[in-house]
Amino acid sequence: MEIAVSRKAHFNAAHRLHVPLWTDEENFAFFGNCNNKNYHGHNYDLIVTVIGEVDPISGYLIDMKQLSTWIKQEVEDAFDHKNLNLDCDEFKNLNPTAENIAVVIWNKLRSKIPTHLKLKVILYETERNFVEYNGN
Ligand code: NI
Repeated sequence: MEIAVSRKAHFNAAHRLHVPLWTDEENFAFFGNCNNKNYHGHNYDLIVTVIGEVDPISGYLIDMKQLSTWIKQEVEDAFDHKNLNLDCDEFKNLNPTAENIAVVIWNKLRSKIPTHLKLKVILYETERNFVEYNGN
């Protein structure tokens, strides 16, 4: 019996979407306001879902206190109130799109969560725009 448990998290961060290979005009035409030279912020909402078998002894899938600590350390402490392009090594050479941020978060959490459990992250960049990544 597979079951999924999820925890929500939140962080505010600034970014600029920009492809160095493209001209300024091409970047603005493609990314619009997200290409703004002086950056801009988003209120990111994150849903972290862990999937697997419930431990028959404890009745837990995963200790949510432990999961919340990993999310705080790997995501909130790393990205909250940061400029993703300038402050975060992960995005020095990686465009901080919602897609790429979701993959980075998944990789960071994957290294913490026990390997017998599956992991999925959903990252909302706005209330209406969100991306989902499960490692595939
Ligand atoms: Ni943006």
